[in-house]
Amino acid sequence: MNYKADPTRYEKMPVRRCGKSGLILPEISLGLWHNFGGIDVFENGREIILKAFDSGIFHFDLANNYGPPPGSAEENFGKILKQDLAPYRDELVISTKAGYRMWEGPFGEWGSRKYLVASLDQSLKRMGLDYVDIYYSHRFDPDTDIEETLYTLHTLVQQGKALYVGISSYSAEQTQQAVAFFKEFKTPFVIHQPRYNMFDRWIENGLVEVLEKNKLGSIVFSPLEQGLLSTRYLDGIPGDSRAARGTGNFDQTDISQEKLEKIKQLNELAQNRGQTLAQMALAWILRLQSITSVLIGPSRLSQMEENIRALENKQFSPEELDRIDEIMAN
Ligand SMILES: NC(=O)c1ccc[n+]([C@@H]2O[C@H](COP(=O)([O-])OP(=O)(O)OC[C@H]3O[C@@H](n4cnc5c(N)ncnc54)[C@H](OP(=O)(O)O)[C@@H]3O)[C@@H](O)[C@H]2O)c1
Repeated sequence: MNYKADPTRYEKMPVRRCGKSGLILPEISLGLWHNFGGIDVFENGREIILKAFDSGIFHFDLANNYGPPPGSAEENFGKILKQDLAPYRDELVISTKAGYRMWEGPFGEWGSRKYLVASLDQSLKRMGLDYVDIYYSHRFDPDTDIEETLYTLHTLVQQGKALYVGISSYSAEQTQQAVAFFKEFKTPFVIHQPRYNMFDRWIENGLVEVLEKNKLGSIVFSPLEQGLLSTRYLDGIPGDSRAARGTGNFDQTDISQEKLEKIKQLNELAQNRGQTLAQMALAWILRLQSITSVLIGPSRLSQMEENIRALENKQFSPEELDRIDEIMAN
């Protein structure tokens, strides 16, 4: 079965530029943290990935540990690349990361040179690639000198194994340090990957300012708070949901009555805007111009199709924004 990409794919999705760099991303990108691993149905993941590309999503976000089991999302993505997407490699933006536990011993996680170098080699092998488009330090390492971590990213670019580098979940201050360090070496450091959604607004306390000041791109993860910001949990916890499966750091204890009350109110507001709650939650993130792209992680095609349609209404009136603030503050 030969896959042929939809010739109209680039007419379907708006794009944004990462700061002043040459890296351009679709407003919605696809993440493979869950739903694309060894425990999942391969054909389901393949269908989502190919439909994503047909819809104008040319950026796919991975990490060494995505699965479960760790590594299996990269392996599955590698198979799809080989069998379907190989002719399109130069159109794709493929990212991976290292920072969380991947193998045993002191060099199996965090930010040492030894870990970051070995991990990227493993990721390239699993995906069958010569290089990734973006390589991230997945989390700040409090014990390794930040310069060791950053310089390693720089050398991996010099070696041709990554075209651009990024950091994920670094604080505003750590990000400013990275900007200063990379400037000295002229490293193509173009992107930050923070967590951001209506429940988790930490980036508004400093990081957004750093992104804007330095013209750095950003791509947001867990925009739906792992599914909470949708209608998924309004009538209980479905057996096939992420909360029930407990595969992530998210389970039934994260779904309090208090949160459900907010979700109901947000859902009403979304309906008044002619959107689903998931669509409103995604559009709300893209209201910030310093955000280049938002990463979705759908478990099925229908969710992805719904999420993409968020782009049909990205405008918020001041009253709507105030109402969201009010719901979340109460
Ligand atoms: N840098 C980092 O440290 C980091 C951390 C986490 C994630 N990420 C990246 O960000 C990506 C997205 O994160 P995420 O998976 O947490 O995103 P998310 O969008 O907050 O959560 C995805 C989950 O939400 C549910 N969902 C999605 N669309 C829905 C819809 N329209 N209606 C109802 N439910 C819907 C699905 O749950 P069900 O499974 O229940 O159907 C899905 O598994 C990841 O794949 C990864 O690439 C990065």
